[in-house]
Formats: sequence, structure tokens, C-alpha cells
Amino acid sequence: MTLGIIAAMSEELEILLKDMQLDSSTTKAGMTFNKGKLWSNEVIAVVCGIGKVNAAVCTQILVSEFNVDKVINVGVAGGIGKDIYPGDVVIATNLVEHDMDTTAFGDPHGQVPRMDTFDFKCDSSLIESANSACKKVGGFNTFTGRIVSGDVFVADVEKIKWLEKEFNALSCEMEGASIAHVCYLNNIPVVVIRSISDNANNGAHMDFEKFTPIAVKNSTSILKEMLLSMN
Ligand code: ADE
Repeated sequence: MTLGIIAAMSEELEILLKDMQLDSSTTKAGMTFNKGKLWSNEVIAVVCGIGKVNAAVCTQILVSEFNVDKVINVGVAGGIGKDIYPGDVVIATNLVEHDMDTTAFGDPHGQVPRMDTFDFKCDSSLIESANSACKKVGGFNTFTGRIVSGDVFVADVEKIKWLEKEFNALSCEMEGASIAHVCYLNNIPVVVIRSISDNANNGAHMDFEKFTPIAVKNSTSILKEMLLSMN
């Protein structure tokens, strides 16, 4: 069993890479695919870059060229709703591309036209494994539900209100839904685990700088606990 681990930014993966027994590194499409072992699990760990296109290209390479059996996406996200704070964790049950808009044809916002699904679902056993890892790590609140992704860093209260109303989303980021979309096309189990770096409001870029280190620490600890339990 080979696990693909994707993060959008190098800082989201660097703690994990320090623990990895590296066998080889291969560069494709400008991305470095690190093959090796993490706590006895065969993994390919890669930084995909920011946004849906980078994430989709990366995921397809993991599937087609590295034959991964499962995909885990970790990283940071903007929190939606008043009860979610930096450091908290959201485990996605399903994801939607919030910037997909063919409403002119009568589709709901987020629907990829002519696809047989509205949302892209995460694998139930990976969700369960992420949830028990969160319980073991502790020190933050864990939420399970929908994450929305789009090619936009959300820093606008009106936009968060819309994302909450339209999609009932718990958090927003820029890659997860496209990773889950590619996994859906290839029938590969996936889970997206994000720790909150900001509340996607008007000061979001400043909170992002301040809280990303703690959010990364939390998502890395969860992934470590999950990998330890997979042996
Ligand atoms: N990732 C972390 N914070 C974010 C935000 N506010 N919008 C989009 N992606 C994010």
C-alpha cells in the first residue's frame, strides 16, 4: 500500500519530511515527489503548490505515475463560522469547488456541469482514522463536515457569509476539492485534513502569517498519529 501525501506549501510538509526515510526524489511538472518510509508506511510526499490546477496535476501524477492507493491532503485553511478558531481542525467529509459557476444554465453554484456528483466525498475509514488521531493528539477542537475550495484567498466577511449560506461549509482553502475531484475520477480513497490559520475575514492575511505555524504543527501531529496507527 502506497500513500500519497499532498501539501500546497513547503512549510506544511517540512516537519514531516524531517522524519521521512527518503529512498528517492523525482521532479515532474516542477513538483518534487519524495518516495520513502514514514513510520513504516510507504509514502510519496509532495508539495503541489497553491491552487486547484497545481493540486489536480499533482494528484493525477501520484495516481498515474506513482500508483498511490490512497491520498491524504494536509495543510491550513480559513475557518468559516463564529465557533471555529485558529489551531482548530476540520476533517472533510466532502468538498465542493466554490468558484465553479454555471448558474447561467440553471446549475447550483459549485456544481461541475455534466458530472454525476455535486460534492467530492472523502473515504469513511480515512475520516475515522483522522478523527481518532485528533482525539489522541488533543489540544484543539475538531470539526467534521464540508470544506470548499477555490482559486481565491478569502479575506472578506461577506464572502464567508455566502460560503456558509450557500455551501454550509466549515472552512475554505484552495486545493482540497480539486484533489478529491481527481481522486473521484480515478476511484482512489482520499481525505482532506486542514487546521485553521485564519477566519477568512478582513485581517485574514495577518492571522495567516501568525497562526500558520501552530496550524501546521496540529495537522502534522494528526498525520503522524494516523500513520502510526496504519502499521
Ligand atoms: N488557506 C488558509 N486560509 C485561507 C483563506 N482565508 N482562504 C483560502 N485559503 C486559505
